[in-house]
Amino acid sequence: MADMLARLHTPAGDHFMPSTIFEPFRIKSVEPIRMTTREERARLLEQAKLNPFHLRAEDVLLDFLTDSGTGAMSARQWAALIEGDESYAGARSFFRFEEAVRDLTGYPHVIPTHQGRAAERILFSVATKPGDVVPSNTHFDTTRANLEYDGVEPLDLVIPEGLEPRTRHPFKGNIDLGRVERLLAEKGERVPFGMITLTNNSGGGQPVSLENVRAYAALLRAHGKPLVLDACRFAENAMFVKLREPGQSERTPREIARELFSLADGCLVSAKKDGLANIGGFIALRDERWVEAARNLLILTEGFPTYGGLAGRDLEAIAVGLEEVLHEDYLRYRLRTAEYLGEKLLRGGVAIVEPTGGHAVYLDARSFLPHLAAADYPAWALSLALYLEGGIRGVEIGSVMFGKRLDDGTETYHPLELVRLAFPRRVYTQSHFDYAAEVILELKARARDVRGVRFARQARYLRHFTAEFRWA
Ligand code: F0G
Repeated sequence: MADMLARLHTPAGDHFMPSTIFEPFRIKSVEPIRMTTREERARLLEQAKLNPFHLRAEDVLLDFLTDSGTGAMSARQWAALIEGDESYAGARSFFRFEEAVRDLTGYPHVIPTHQGRAAERILFSVATKPGDVVPSNTHFDTTRANLEYDGVEPLDLVIPEGLEPRTRHPFKGNIDLGRVERLLAEKGERVPFGMITLTNNSGGGQPVSLENVRAYAALLRAHGKPLVLDACRFAENAMFVKLREPGQSERTPREIARELFSLADGCLVSAKKDGLANIGGFIALRDERWVEAARNLLILTEGFPTYGGLAGRDLEAIAVGLEEVLHEDYLRYRLRTAEYLGEKLLRGGVAIVEPTGGHAVYLDARSFLPHLAAADYPAWALSLALYLEGGIRGVEIGSVMFGKRLDDGTETYHPLELVRLAFPRRVYTQSHFDYAAEVILELKARARDVRGVRFARQARYLRHFTAEFRWA
């Protein structure tokens, strides 16, 4: 592990090992960000009904709400936009996009969608039926909600280490093969396919090993079930495999990514992550089974199969992004970003999910705020405190996102209470991360003053986006 981390620090593969985040780009266009006062932030938070999703982005200094669609495009991507062919049917931009996806995944059937959740909705509508069960390491919230909406049970079968924030394991995103085996033996007839999320976003941005994907695919295949990757962060996962998996260090991230796709039968991708685009997604499939039904549904709700809810220029940006994201210097910078902030926080005694994942640092709110009970929603409370303290917006991954109010009024709670600080790609510099560390360490010194919250309003599905709160 130490050797792996050392290699991460090396920008050009030589022996110089700076601990800085080496950003492998220079900045061509800048956008101002605004400091606010603590009083302003307190008022803005009240106006937002204590829900950071309701803040105006302009009132946020460092926006770590998500790494989704928030990245900076490269000069090559901006140039490609001008090449966008906006024809309704058969646009040149579609064929470029299709070629880029086929080249990466090896899957012949490529269906563009406006973002990842549209891909989920379409595939699940055509490939599942009520009463089905779909296993994964951990389903992301939209994936889970789209399955539930179709009457399908999403099952999270991550390895036990994946649920222990402090346990170090190189591939904490791995799926528990023993539990998959039992599921297939006991309820195999209800499983239409298996899924796995690369990297495991809801479990801390943790990677999955090639070996685990291979064994999972083999288990599914033995029962005649396909494997569908939720591959939004395929490049970050591939880089972790290169750095951590025995025998993989000499391969390129592209070779590893291709192998990951080759082990599965299809993928759902939000291009807003490792597509390095601001919008977009796709379904790609190896065989024809679901293709026609998916295309028909696409026409009904997204658009014609050669644009799927996207402009031609978006397809161009994704085609370039899927290539750039696998550059090794970019991926070193990318993984070093989370690792760098994580090191600072650990040195200051802040508990985080260890080791750091690819796209984010996850603060362990239970340990940060030991005086709060589950019913105080500690991770939600911590996300509010970060904004109040320093204008930083993160997102709760805990019982607001994954708990539920049952029909009898009782609340269920999630085993983890995390605040995710997710990093837009190629947007912030090392100074921004130094500032973030200062704010978090300052807050830690005064953690006992942080108050819990109670729900004032909530929706049935994806309640975290719209819920309103009051202080406990
Ligand atoms: N799957 C995973 C693993 C995701 O992280 C996301 C989105 C999706 C599917 C859905 O994609 O947003 O394009 O519809 N994650 C974002 C996040 C929203 O902040 O983690 P989408």
